[in-house]
Amino acid sequence: MLTVKQLPDLSGKKVYVRVDFNVPHKGEVISDDNRIRAAIPTIKALLEKGARVVLMSHLGKVDWKKLKKGEKTQEDIDGQMKKNNLCIAVEPLKKHISDAMGKDVNVFFCPENRGEALKAAVEALKDGEILLAQNTRYQPGEEKNDPELAKEWAGLVDAFVMDAFGSAHRAHASTVGVPEILKAEGKPVFLGFLMIKEVENLTRCVEVKDGDRPYVAILGGLKVSDKIKVIDALIDKCDYIIIGGAMSYTFKKARGEQIGSSFLDEASLDYAKACLEKAGDKIVLPVDSVITDSFEPVEGRKIEVAEAIPEGFEGVDIGPKSEKLFAEVIAKAKMVFWNGPMGVFEQEEFQSGTKAVCEAIKDLEGKAFTVCGGGDSASAIKQFGYKDNFSHVSTGGGASLEMIENDGHLPGVDVLR
Ligand code: 3PG
Repeated sequence: MLTVKQLPDLSGKKVYVRVDFNVPHKGEVISDDNRIRAAIPTIKALLEKGARVVLMSHLGKVDWKKLKKGEKTQEDIDGQMKKNNLCIAVEPLKKHISDAMGKDVNVFFCPENRGEALKAAVEALKDGEILLAQNTRYQPGEEKNDPELAKEWAGLVDAFVMDAFGSAHRAHASTVGVPEILKAEGKPVFLGFLMIKEVENLTRCVEVKDGDRPYVAILGGLKVSDKIKVIDALIDKCDYIIIGGAMSYTFKKARGEQIGSSFLDEASLDYAKACLEKAGDKIVLPVDSVITDSFEPVEGRKIEVAEAIPEGFEGVDIGPKSEKLFAEVIAKAKMVFWNGPMGVFEQEEFQSGTKAVCEAIKDLEGKAFTVCGGGDSASAIKQFGYKDNFSHVSTGGGASLEMIENDGHLPGVDVLR
C-alpha cells in the first residue's frame, strides 16, 4: 500500500481526500472537532507537496426512505436533517479546518457535491489550496456506491487519499468507488497518516502476539445482537472478555440470574447461553450492579446496589464488587481492547463503573498496550480526562469493531492494497 509518507511532488495535481468529519454537532454548532484535527497532518503533508486538496466527508445520516417520492430536493434534505439534528450541510466545518490549518491557507466551500458547480470549484483551485465539498451523503448514490457518481468524482482529480478511518467500514462511492476507478486508471491512491496509525494499532489487537498476552477485551453497550460478530471474534483471540453495560444483563439472565426490569435483548438469549458455554471462565460478568427504580432522573428515585436485581429495578452501572473484580482482571493484561461504557455514564450517578475501568487501564500505563475502540467509550474517557492514559484511542467506533470482526479487513483499506 502506498502511504502519504511516499508522496511525490504534487504541484498542479488535484487530490480527492476522503476524511471523516462526521463530528458531534447541535445544529450548526460543532461540539468536538477532534476528528477534523486528526486529519490535519495528512492535509498539511499534501499541501507541502503542492497539491490542490478536495476534501470530501459525510456529516450525519440521511433517511432516504423517510423522504417521500418527488420530494428529494436539497431543501427537503436540509429541512429533515435540521429538524432531527442529523445530517447537515458541511459548511460549518470550514471554519474549523481554517483554524486548524492557519491563516496562510485558503479554504473554500462548494455547496454542491456534483455537476458543473463542483467541477468549476475544483478547477479554480490553486496549488496549496483546499476545497471542502458538500456533504457526500446528499447524493443518494453515495451509500449505494453508485458507479456513475464514483466516476464523476474520480474524473475531477489525479490522486486519492483515504484518511477517513471512521468510515472505512462503509463500501460507499467516496470510500471505495473512487479509489477503485483511479487505481484502474493507473492513478495513485494513498493511505493518510490517521489511517496508518489506526490500522497499525488495531492490527495489533487482531493479530495477537504472545508478548501481548494476557489479552483482555472489555465490552459494553446496549444490545448483544449489535456485538455478536465481535464477541465471536474476541472469544477466539482473547484470554478474558469482561462484559459490562446494559448487554451484561442479557448474559446474566442467560446464566439464570435475576435481572429485574433491566434491559434484556431477548432475541440474543440463546446466543448468550451458547457463548457462556463456549467461552467458560473467559467471560467475566458483573457480580453486582447499581440499580434504580427510574431511569429518568426524577426527584426521589431510589438508587441502590444489589447482586440480584428485584422487579421494578433496573441495572444502570456495575457495582463496587464488580469494579474490583474487573480491575483485578485488567491488572493482569498485557493488551486491552475496550469498546462500550459500563453504565449510563451520561448521568453522574452512574459513572463510577466506567471511571473504575479508566483507572484500571491508567494503572497499566507503561506495562501494557491499551486501545479504546471509539464510540461512546471514547467520549466517556475524554469526558473523564483519561484520553492520554491510553496507548491508542480510535476515531472510529463501528470501523474498529468491524476490523476486529473481519480479521483486520475493512473495505476502505482493502481497496488501497
Ligand atoms: C461514525 O461516526 O461512526 C462514522 O462517521 C460512520 O458513520 P455512519 O455510521 O453514519 O456510517
